[in-house]
Amino acid sequence: MAFTDVSMLAIAGAAAAAVALVLLYRRLVSQPKLNLPYLRFEDGNDSRERYVTDTPALLQIGYEKYLKHGQAFAMRNYVDDHHPQVILPIRYLKEVRNAPESKLSFPYYSEQIFSLKDTGGLFHTPEGTQMVRVDLNRHLNALTPRMHEEAIAAFEKLLPPGKDWVPVSPYAIFSYAIGRVTALALAGPELAHNDEWIGLTAKITVDIMQAAQGVRAKWHPYTRWAARWFFEPVKVVLASKKRAAELLKPVLEKRQAALKEGASRREKGSTPIFNDGVQWLLETYEAKGRKLTPEELAHHELFAAIGAIQSSVATTVGVLFDLLDHPEYLGEILAEIEQVKNDAPDLPRQALNKLWKLDSFLKESQRLHAVGQVRLNRAAVVPYTFKDGLHLPAGTQISFLLQVPNLDPDLFPEPQKFNPWRFLHKRQQGDADKNHFASVSDDNIFFGNGAHSCPGRFFVTDEIKLLLVHLLTRYSFKYATEGEKRPADIIHDNASYPNIMTQVLYQKK
Ligand code: HEM
Repeated sequence: MAFTDVSMLAIAGAAAAAVALVLLYRRLVSQPKLNLPYLRFEDGNDSRERYVTDTPALLQIGYEKYLKHGQAFAMRNYVDDHHPQVILPIRYLKEVRNAPESKLSFPYYSEQIFSLKDTGGLFHTPEGTQMVRVDLNRHLNALTPRMHEEAIAAFEKLLPPGKDWVPVSPYAIFSYAIGRVTALALAGPELAHNDEWIGLTAKITVDIMQAAQGVRAKWHPYTRWAARWFFEPVKVVLASKKRAAELLKPVLEKRQAALKEGASRREKGSTPIFNDGVQWLLETYEAKGRKLTPEELAHHELFAAIGAIQSSVATTVGVLFDLLDHPEYLGEILAEIEQVKNDAPDLPRQALNKLWKLDSFLKESQRLHAVGQVRLNRAAVVPYTFKDGLHLPAGTQISFLLQVPNLDPDLFPEPQKFNPWRFLHKRQQGDADKNHFASVSDDNIFFGNGAHSCPGRFFVTDEIKLLLVHLLTRYSFKYATEGEKRPADIIHDNASYPNIMTQVLYQKK
């Protein structure tokens, strides 16, 4: 090629690039901006650090000033300084719930919040969700007795009998017990009894969050792609994924062999010989003519574990603290348990559903101390305009408040009072199928709402009840020091959960 051809090409290339830049610039400046009141701390300290611990205070102001009047507001997005987050009043719930995934997306929100592209974290998987939403729920009746046995075995391992009061970490015992019961249901009995698996699945959520926070704090956006080779917290996440696949491999091979031999084939609708997430996933893949690899299986399993373990542990720790704060209600809860057990000593699901007082106690505990300040978190995949004209630029994160409205006297009389039978009375006076712990409605978004509403909510309700029935009937608990009360919840940006460091004392009854 002659020199002049080369220079002509270079000039044409430069011109094309210039035109592209102009078009991009025009598109950016012509795109409507976020037109909302912007809420910030107005006492002189609106630093980024302030948002780590004080976000709930700002959400309270935003609720009173804007949301209660049907007005959305924007505020600093602790995760991404360039895109303010938008908090919506509940009147937008229906529209958000019905918006297609290609516009307002939960997976895209998770991708942003966990910086998944840079941390090797776990992308949302439809297969992992289906395993819980369809298969787990379908088999819950059959699984409950085995979950019960698993919970008892876990506590017997951790809480040996003795005459004395012994210190114990509620966070540690519930992490282990919930890890085991979850593993039994989702990964099978082999891994439910493998402490490495229990530790790995309990820790993966924390590992991913630490990797995401670390990458955002320490790596420039242009270099983050390299963090996987040089940044320890990201390497930890990747190593856990690899190890999870190694641990799952022999289980998967055994199931694949059984399936080939026909040992696990079954009549349609009957309970399979292997009844757990590994089997359900394998059968889903087989039905579609796809081969399930240990790596894919690990991805689905770890994704489900992220949903299943930490929120459930935090919820149960909080309930135990509230039981210690309000021992005056324990007698009634125990009497209800005894009555239900008299009719059904093995506590099948139908019996657990009759524990209305315990259920109401769980719900009141969450009303006052929600795990998480916000719900229905979504991110705009494309610029999105609501019917009333509210416009969200692409990439904007939206949420609804969970905790603040729970303390609104217009919604809950005497909102600061712990009234364990608040929801029991609502059920007795109204629709018994509403106002229970697992229920989801427009005024009850603890488990989300719409297509993504938590598919594990029935499982976790049974699980927490089984754990508590065993603990409350076999053991006594008290705080380590006289007069001690529930410790303040830990806050980090929009996250909130009970203090995981607090120890209590237990004694076998
Ligand atoms: C107290 C414990 C739990 C809480 C508070 C909780 C809460 C939530 C919330 C708020 C969502 C998002 C809903 C939305 O945005 O509309 C969700 C989704 C999800 N949860 Fe749970 N969850 C809990 C336990 C569980 C358990 C035990 C499992 C599995 C056995 C599970 C599996 C999932 C999955 C797979 C999703 C994604 C659903 C989807 O994208 O369609 N969760 N959960």
